[in-house]
Amino acid sequence: MKIVFASHNAHKRTEVQAIMAEVWPGLELVAPEGEPPVEDGETFHDNALIKARAGYQASGLPAIADDSGICVDALGGQPGIHSARYSDTGDDADNVAKLLDTLGDEPERSAHFVCVAAVVDDHGDLAIEKKWHGTIAQAPHGAAGFGYDPIFIPDSLNHTAAQMPPEEKNQVSHRGQAFRALAAVLRERYAGA
Ligand code: IMP
Repeated sequence: MKIVFASHNAHKRTEVQAIMAEVWPGLELVAPEGEPPVEDGETFHDNALIKARAGYQASGLPAIADDSGICVDALGGQPGIHSARYSDTGDDADNVAKLLDTLGDEPERSAHFVCVAAVVDDHGDLAIEKKWHGTIAQAPHGAAGFGYDPIFIPDSLNHTAAQMPPEEKNQVSHRGQAFRALAAVLRERYAGA
């Protein structure tokens, strides 16, 4: 069974393929056609559905997408939906540097990642939101993962997400939780299992 993964981020597609294949081994995620849509929603939920809807309209196949980001409590939930383009360049290292700089010596460093995984198909729209709670480190550590992983210390662990092997991160992360739940819905819908 082929499903469009409506994201041009190859790292994410690999991560999501591994997560969903655990729940539904026959599933194949394919890249979207055409230009990515403008993500002008005001919430993770809106933006995930904008991407999935565009993938479905371009291909006629069921299309899934996610929108994700990190919300820092002491910054009133920022960068939130602006996580990917928080710094001027949008580079991971610059985003991390800006977040550490903005937070400074603030002692209250709690934060959470959010992922909304969405599907648009002949059945309509569905979106599932999951969170991963932790704190922001004083400095980056680790080389695995991407984005804010080097400064995110998950609750109950004493290392950053960038110090976790990918399989371990997928078991607990916001994206792992959201796409495992979505895979179970889609497997029932399309594989009758
Ligand atoms: P999106 O592609 O619009 O969902 O952008 C999400 C942005 O949030 C990414 O570019 C990262 O900066 C950040 N982000 C989301 N999930 C993660 C994660 O698992 N680890 C680190 N950063 C993440």
